[in-house]
Amino acid sequence: MTTEHEAIIESARAAFAGAATPAELENAKAQFIGKSGRITELMKGLAALPVDEKKSRGAAINQAKQAIEAALGERRQALADAELEAQLEAEALDVSLPGRVREPGGLHPVSLTLERIEQIFASMGFAVADGPEIESDWHSFTSLNNPPNHPARSMQDTFYVDIDGDDGIPYNLRPHTSPMQVRYAHAHIKKYAEAVKRGEAMPEIRVIAPGRTYRVDSDATHSPMFHQCEGLWLGENVSFKDLKVVFTDFCRTFFESDDLALRFRPSFFPFTEPSAEIDIQFQSGPLAGRWLEVAGSGQVHPQVVRNMGLDPEKHIGFAFGMGPDRLTMLRYGVSDLRLFFDGDIRFLRQFR
Ligand code: DAH
Repeated sequence: MTTEHEAIIESARAAFAGAATPAELENAKAQFIGKSGRITELMKGLAALPVDEKKSRGAAINQAKQAIEAALGERRQALADAELEAQLEAEALDVSLPGRVREPGGLHPVSLTLERIEQIFASMGFAVADGPEIESDWHSFTSLNNPPNHPARSMQDTFYVDIDGDDGIPYNLRPHTSPMQVRYAHAHIKKYAEAVKRGEAMPEIRVIAPGRTYRVDSDATHSPMFHQCEGLWLGENVSFKDLKVVFTDFCRTFFESDDLALRFRPSFFPFTEPSAEIDIQFQSGPLAGRWLEVAGSGQVHPQVVRNMGLDPEKHIGFAFGMGPDRLTMLRYGVSDLRLFFDGDIRFLRQFR
């Protein structure tokens, strides 16, 4: 190799080193071993030389060419390595970061209570019914024997709803689930009439109706939206004693406690006579000894049975209305009802 060859190799190395991308490198290559590159031009110049010289100069040029090709190969590899490195860095995963786990969902504590109530009453032969939350004044109050100026109708605790084209019939967000007593009877009245026509005994009505209820009321133990579960058992002669047995059984099963005490305290509801409020008392645990009100109840008033379209001499039985929210608070030891309806996941996930 001549010094000229060495100089070409040197400038090729410098040009390759200066190429920052594969495209630039290919351009640099063309200057030396491309069609009209410097080495290629030298090769072309050999043709004019005598054979001897051709051989020795040719070999030297080839050597220079190989050195340039080797430098090119090195630079190609270096650029490819750098590109891979950059890509790996860009796509790097920090495997030490905690993962984003999809946590299993769960039922709301009040839903758990409603499921439990339905299961227990289903095991005692009760059907489960569902009804509208926007209810007519007649179903909410009149059908349940509420006198026209009864305080339960008051604007202070009932949400009234304006519905266009309702012919002036007042509607409300139902303040209790009791309208379901009359609704359920009406929904099945044809079936009952047909059974009687066939000479069969009148089928019993044995149903619970859980759902949302609404009142203008809000503090630690009252929420404007809350839950109730109505119960109704009408038969030929379903007595107050049956009410005591059914409700006592329910409470003991619900709270999984055989030594739970119940107290039926005389009370008044327009739709029952006699009426009672039901209190429970735990014998152990944090609430032991205190009487806690859980439901209203009584023997269904004859006027309510008439409003169902049934004969009060033949359809006798009890009704009750309880508060599933209250039962949930007692069961889990929650002291503020509003926690159930705030939607705070930290509270709710404890019931998962
Ligand atoms: N509806 C009543 C209330 O909201 C509760 C109630 C009391 C329901 C007595 C009944 C019953 O079925 O017999 O306060």
